[in-house]
Amino acid sequence: PYPAYEQLRSRSPVLHEPHSDLWMVFDYESVKRALQDHEAFSSIVAPPSAMTSQWLVFADPPRHSKLRALLLRAFTPRAVASLEPRILALSHELLDRTMARGEMDLAEDFSVPLPLRVIAEMLGVPTTDLPHFKRWSDVMMALGYAVAGSEEAARVQREFSEVTEEMRVYVRDLAGQRRETPREDLLTRLVEAEVEGERLTEDELLGFVQLLLSAGHETTTNLLNNALLCFLEHPEQLARLRAEPALLPSAIEEVLRYRSPVQAMFRVTRSEVSLHGQVIPPGKMVLAMIGSANRDPRKFQDPDRFDISREPNPHIAFGHGIHFCIGAPLSRLEARVGLSVLLERMRDVALASDAPWEPRRAIHVHGPTRLPIRFTPGT
Ligand code: HEM
Repeated sequence: PYPAYEQLRSRSPVLHEPHSDLWMVFDYESVKRALQDHEAFSSIVAPPSAMTSQWLVFADPPRHSKLRALLLRAFTPRAVASLEPRILALSHELLDRTMARGEMDLAEDFSVPLPLRVIAEMLGVPTTDLPHFKRWSDVMMALGYAVAGSEEAARVQREFSEVTEEMRVYVRDLAGQRRETPREDLLTRLVEAEVEGERLTEDELLGFVQLLLSAGHETTTNLLNNALLCFLEHPEQLARLRAEPALLPSAIEEVLRYRSPVQAMFRVTRSEVSLHGQVIPPGKMVLAMIGSANRDPRKFQDPDRFDISREPNPHIAFGHGIHFCIGAPLSRLEARVGLSVLLERMRDVALASDAPWEPRRAIHVHGPTRLPIRFTPGT
């Protein structure tokens, strides 16, 4: 999408698409403003009847502030940091299964299961229930793929309603167990968290589990896949990274900028908003193009160059302002641990197929559906 962004950004950074009456914003300053200025740009994009209207990410203050405070009580830096040994063990375990073959589909064999298992274990879901979790997550991801108004969208909505009811029963049951017998897990912390004497309602708790499952999974999957793609496309940068592994955290930031896993977020204008001389009326859907903002030459020098030591790198891949991604420390940790294990155990990594990789069919997440690779096994 990047050459298209470039053209649009330089010609019309604010674009009105008349067919769907959608406003798209492409330049860094305006995207940042749309993400952060919640007085003018509301996050309430889901209809009140939909389960997604319970999700923190689709709420405005004051409700947003209460929900976010509750989640932050549970999602502590300590809880995240304590996961490092487990992420390391899981990364090795996943690679042990494929190492000897000398080839794998990085998506299916590594980038999908790693974050899914981490978030499931963090919540405290028994491993035996992982197949349910995977299905629920797939249905929720399909929500964002289907084009609004299409037959497929209607089908996906029906599936999402079914899944929501299954999840409701499941979460109610598991939450009941945790109330009786608390454990050291995120679910217990969510059940017990209080803000101003208030606890989460059943719908709010279910909303959190759904949001964490979808936000905590596919995004990090794409970060892992996109990182490997970037390294393979820029072998000289990979060689630098191998020579100087301490560059990994900054390389991950550059992947987040260069191939942002979340390409765009929706907002709805609350009042009339003027951007670059264009007037967006109230009540209009706006798509803030994060992927384009992160390549804006007015903010980033030589933006189409992938440079693992870029400094400064003020990308907005995790959003900006009151909705800034709560999972950022977790996904940075998963990427750092997962990628260092990959690079350590694999030599001469190359794409296993000449066919161009197939992108995920979605406007909001960006990355390959499959990523077949070949390599020389290390240890
Ligand atoms: C919010 C990106 C991983 C949980 C956001 C937002 C972005 C984002 C752009 C802001 C949305 C907005 O402004 O409307 C990403 C990327 C990730 C990632 C690129 C990985 C590379 C995760 C993980 C979790 C998570 C691992 C949790 C386990 C959340 C939550 C919010 C959020 C709960 C809502 C925060 C709020 O509305 O206050 N994320 N995310 N994310 N993210 Fe992430």
